[in-house]
Order: sequence, then structure tokens, then C-alpha cells
Amino acid sequence: MCILPFFAKVLRISTSILAWYTKYKRDLPWRHTRDPYKIWLSEVMLQQTRVQQGLPYYEEFVSAFPTITDFANADEQQILTMWQGLGYYSRARNMHTAAKQVVENHAGIFPQDYTAIKALKGVGDYTAAAIASFAFDLPYPVIDGNVYRVVSRLFNICEPINKPVGHKAVYEAVTSIFDTHRPALFNQAIMEFGALQCTPKKPKCEECPLQSKCAAYELDKVAELPFKEGRTKVKSITHTYLVIHYRETTFIEQRKAGIWQNLHQFPLIEEALNRQEVIEACKQLIDNEIPLTLGDKFKTTHLLSHRKISAHFYNIYVDIKPLFLKSNIFETLLADIGTKYPTSVLIQKYLNQAKEDDK
Ligand code: ADE
Ligand code: SF4
Repeated sequence: MCILPFFAKVLRISTSILAWYTKYKRDLPWRHTRDPYKIWLSEVMLQQTRVQQGLPYYEEFVSAFPTITDFANADEQQILTMWQGLGYYSRARNMHTAAKQVVENHAGIFPQDYTAIKALKGVGDYTAAAIASFAFDLPYPVIDGNVYRVVSRLFNICEPINKPVGHKAVYEAVTSIFDTHRPALFNQAIMEFGALQCTPKKPKCEECPLQSKCAAYELDKVAELPFKEGRTKVKSITHTYLVIHYRETTFIEQRKAGIWQNLHQFPLIEEALNRQEVIEACKQLIDNEIPLTLGDKFKTTHLLSHRKISAHFYNIYVDIKPLFLKSNIFETLLADIGTKYPTSVLIQKYLNQAKEDDK
């Protein structure tokens, strides 16, 4: 490759993206702050959620916890309750741990260099680069899904981007177009370009300022890129939830591990049960002697990144207050689930339909 024309192309790419950004960027609250804590919050939320869905969560967290110290001192159950619906709850728990690290090890002042930022719990390359560049204008390129897509199309990168070889190719290509004089601006611009212009489906190639410099466009390979290899298969499983009703109350447990750790749920058996087995399972949980009435069943499905859950919620009624409860199960008002006791979106699907039925 002849070096000079290559650099010329590269320079024009970043100039074009910045010009495009100036014209088309959205006005988003985290673009008006240099507070690393708020930037961190927004980036963690946006890793799993679209901007429009993430916005109200961002506003709510910033107003409830204006500083990292407020966030560190917050009650984990309150954080999880506010995080409900965003998914990936481990990110919220990790952020809470990291905030405490900042308070304890950095006197509440967010660390200002990449290595120290990355040492915080749950902070990976992407988040560290985002905080370092947006808050401190340090020259680290961010590589999120948008950047993978834009860059693999511009440079016709055919290696799988979910493997080290593809990641390396993308990293080198971004580095080659990176504007070290304006790291924050460049990073915002390329992500926004991916979010609005070079979109996963139906990218706006016909009115794209980079069309003449885009290798995928020239080779008619836009639809094939970015390339991913051997995507993990989604596994189908069944969850049986026992919703035991005693007057206005029901019985729940807190999850000990996994993606829903520390959230609450109805007692769960991780397989399909018939009606007789449901009754047997209930007897194990509450007093054996209490007569049970098995009511109707609510069925729904819930999709996670690598699981498809068929959830069966059985309504079971008891007239006598159960005195024996299996160790981790406790009694609560139905209305306290999702408010006082944070819960998952799957459990909320049951609660929503139960509310509908009550009307
Ligand atoms: N997605 C990830 N980070 C973002 C940001 N800072 N602005 C808009 N969308 C994003
Ligand atoms: Fe993306 Fe199409 Fe523009 Fe290439 S021409 S950068 S694929 S929008």
C-alpha cells in the first residue's frame, strides 16, 4: 500500500465523521457534562439499552444520587429497584462496589488515568476508554458495537469481530483514523454515526458522506459486515414459579446467584411440573398439613441473551396462615414486590397480568 494516499483517506474519514456529527448529533444530557461519574453511569446504561429507553433511568439516577459518594452510600436494594427493567443487574452491583472503591481508595474523587479507571470493579476497556476520553479528553478510542460496525464496513474487515483476530483488526483500523487532538469529540461522533447513519439494518448508504471512502460499499458487502462467528445458541428452559396466596400476601425468596442475584422471585423450580407435582412442591415449602387449592396458570416467555425461558406461574391458594416456611422464603404483600423488593422483568410480567385480572 502506498502510505501517502492511505493517510489522506484516513484523515478525510475523521474529518467527514466530525462534520457529520456537528450537523446531525442528538442533544443528550451526558454530552453536557464532564463529570466522570455521570459519564460512567450513562455508558453502563447504554451498553445494554437504547438511548430513548436509557434516558429516564439516567435522569432518575442522577437526581437521586448527584455524586459518586451519594451513589456509594446508597442502599443496594434501592439501586436494584431503580435499575429494574434495564437488565444485566450485575452491572448495577459492580457499579455500587466500584463507587465504594472510589470513596475508600480515592477519597471520593474519580481516578483520572486510564489504568486506575480500569482497575475499578466491572470497568472494561470500553467503559474505561469512554470515561477517560469524555471526562478527561485522554486519547483512548472507544470500541462499542457501533464502532465495530462502522469500522468493519469502512475497511472491509472480514475477520470475526467476536474473536481476538477481528477485535485486533478493528482496533488497529480505529487507531488509524483516531483524532488524538479531539478524543472526546471523535469518540462521540463515530458512535453516533453508527447509531444513526451506519445502522445495523438499512444503513443510509445513499446519502452517506463516507460512501466514496467505504470499502464495504464499493465491494457491495455492507449487509455482510460486521461478521460474527458461531453465535452461541439460545437454549430453551422452563421455569415453574409457585405463587402461593394467603389473603393479600404471598411468599418470595431472594436469589443468591446468577444474573438475577439479590432480586426477588416467587419460589422457583427450574423445570416443568404437572399439577400434582406443583402441589407436592408447595408442601415442601410451607406446612405439609395446610389444604391447598390449585388455581389457574399464567404462561409467558422471556428472552435473555442465551436463554429462552418458558415461565409457568401457578396460583395456589391457602386459607390458613402457613407457619412453617422453608429457610429463605418469607411472606410479603404482593404490592411490595417490585417496589420494596426489587424483582426481574419476568416476575413483573406476572404481576402486571395479575393487576389486569383484578380490575
Ligand atoms: N451509546 C453508547 N455510548 C453512547 C453515548 N455516549 N451517546 C450515545 N449513544 C451511546
Ligand atoms: Fe456505513 Fe453505508 Fe456509509 Fe459505508 S456507505 S459508512 S456502510 S452508511
